[in-house]
Amino acid sequence: MGRTWKCILFCVVTVILLSGCLFAILRQKQQRQQQPNIIVIMVDDLGWNDVSFHGANQIPTPNIDALAYNGVILQRHYVLPICTPSRTAFLTGRYPIRTGMQGYPLKAGERRAIPLGNTLLPEYLRKLGYATHLVGKWHTGYYSDYHTPAYRGFDTFMGYYTGYISYFNHTIEQDSHVGYDLHYDVPGNTSVMYNYEYMTDLITERAQDIISNHDRSKPLYLQLSHLAAHASDAEAVMEVRDEKETNATLGYIDDFNRRKLAGVVTAMDESVGKVVQALKEANMLENSIIVFMSDNGAPTVGLLENYGSNYPLRGLKFTLFEGGIRGTACIYSPLIKNPSRISNELIHITDWLPTFYSAAGGNLDDLEENFDGVDQWATIISGKETTRKNLLLNIDELLSGALMGKYKLINGATLENGDYYGDSGMNKLYPEYNVTNVLYSFAGSAISNISQVTLNTNYVIELRKAATVVCQNFASYPTCLEKCLFDIYNDPCETTDVSHQHPNIVKELNELINEYNKVTMHPVGGTVDPLSYPDHFNGTWMPWVKLSKNKIQFLSA
Ligand SMILES: *[C@@H]1O[C@H](CO)[C@@H](O)[C@H](O)[C@H]1NC(C)=O
Ligand SMILES: *[C@@H]1O[C@H](CO)[C@@H](O)[C@H](O)[C@H]1NC(C)=O
Ligand SMILES: *[C@@H]1O[C@H](CO)[C@@H](O)[C@H](O)[C@H]1NC(C)=O
Ligand SMILES: *[C@@H]1O[C@H](CO)[C@@H](O)[C@H](O)[C@H]1NC(C)=O
Ligand SMILES: *[C@@H]1O[C@H](CO)[C@@H](O)[C@H](O)[C@H]1NC(C)=O
Ligand SMILES: *[C@@H]1O[C@H](CO)[C@@H](O)[C@H](O)[C@H]1NC(C)=O
Repeated sequence: MGRTWKCILFCVVTVILLSGCLFAILRQKQQRQQQPNIIVIMVDDLGWNDVSFHGANQIPTPNIDALAYNGVILQRHYVLPICTPSRTAFLTGRYPIRTGMQGYPLKAGERRAIPLGNTLLPEYLRKLGYATHLVGKWHTGYYSDYHTPAYRGFDTFMGYYTGYISYFNHTIEQDSHVGYDLHYDVPGNTSVMYNYEYMTDLITERAQDIISNHDRSKPLYLQLSHLAAHASDAEAVMEVRDEKETNATLGYIDDFNRRKLAGVVTAMDESVGKVVQALKEANMLENSIIVFMSDNGAPTVGLLENYGSNYPLRGLKFTLFEGGIRGTACIYSPLIKNPSRISNELIHITDWLPTFYSAAGGNLDDLEENFDGVDQWATIISGKETTRKNLLLNIDELLSGALMGKYKLINGATLENGDYYGDSGMNKLYPEYNVTNVLYSFAGSAISNISQVTLNTNYVIELRKAATVVCQNFASYPTCLEKCLFDIYNDPCETTDVSHQHPNIVKELNELINEYNKVTMHPVGGTVDPLSYPDHFNGTWMPWVKLSKNKIQFLSA
């Protein structure tokens, strides 16, 4: 071959290789541009009856309702009954029994965390090219730097490590030690952030900032974990932004404590609207998924009571009755093909990890083993029947339970907290539900701005009616000290134990629980390490254990 020919051949091969390369880069970029932004708004201790789309007029939540009616109302979204287990399930895609995180919520200064060997949701999404941010609550362990959010998949974290802080001072008391708990962390640098703004507003502003400064060549994962509507250590328990304003707008609620809970919730609802507006203004809403959920039911009375209401569901936070675990939830996305509907498909909080991974174009085979979550993306966007047939409610020292089809088994409930609590939210004197306010809320306006269809008022009223749980027969109910089997489809308020009619179903559900019992990791900890006290860290709750490289490798194995 002549020199010229060699040269031409070389050139042709080079051009082919280069264009192949370019094509791959372009395709990757295009794929990235199509990956949806994912925004999770997780609220704390919010009851079933503390939003207005479930039928009560007492607490108007027009922005959350706008998401619900324009998206899909997740009517059977099950969570764990307590913060730490619920958040662990969300972040790992696994039942918390697999990580020893199933029991009592973590105390400040407790040496326990999701073990480092678990890859968390933000880490998975980061591998798919996402920018990842957490704003607000963590509460899955922080004893070493390596257990904090900025070392576990989040590019930035602004928020608190513990279970709750006060709304203005941002402090929490543990064992008579009061410490400040607000941080701004990035990988390699955990630092304290001094700020005394109302926490709901601080979270909102940070989220708006992240959205408006987001580099849109990447998809965004943004998790807002609100303090609302958790009780605080303040004497008022429910700290509203402005009591005068609360009295003026919600004064029709006679019970002052319940009124303040309503004030905390309406401030959070306004935040939801502002975040949706920010997404619209950044031209990101068209390609976003927004999930709204509560981590567990309301503790109406008792420990950390917040005056929330799970009406008409039975039980409280900490229990496996529906009031503790049937969580308020909805999802909005322009990607949903047949929106404005109610889904009665069984969904569990562990399902979000594989669902988001799938929505982001990931291959589920990349995920580690022993996942309990199932991919619900097709169920959500096109109403396909879910593949989830059952779920483990939890196993801890006192309680266990599982759900299969329409039957739910609870073993070992305690007498405490198994009653019906909370306000019905029904009162003829309350202002009527105003659909116009929903459609023209921040969220409603932002959504209608990017959408071809406008919701019809009568249809909204119909949807709301269908999302309202109605029960008869509250007068008598079984205590379930030993066990109870409920048909939760026909008896959502758990008034009638049918275990004697269906011994085979009881047996089958117990077999399911026993299978999971074999893989249960028993929780350690529960005690507070005095070395963690804020006195050692200029009055702040901080990671207090220094880990060596070897130790981290050992913990990650
Ligand atoms: C860590 O972050 C703080 C607050 O953002 C900043 O002031 C400090 O300079 C950072 N330290 C390092 C080593 O980057
Ligand atoms: C906040 O700080 C002020 C001033 O130190 C104090 O009087 C108040 O009790 C604190 N509130 C809470 C909820 O800790
Ligand atoms: C709000 O109303 C309650 C009584 O319902 C009252 O005790 C409280 O002082 C009022 N707060 C303000 C700031 O007006
Ligand atoms: C609903 O609220 C709007 C203001 O946002 C008001 O103009 C309208 O009269 C209200 N509708 C009803 C039925 O109260
Ligand atoms: C959407 O909002 C933009 C700017 O905020 C406005 O110019 C446009 O008319 C709106 N479109 C619709 C359909 O509401
Ligand atoms: C210690 O805490 C106070 C607030 O309580 C803060 O103003 C001060 O900057 C902190 N000092 C250091 C060295 O971080």
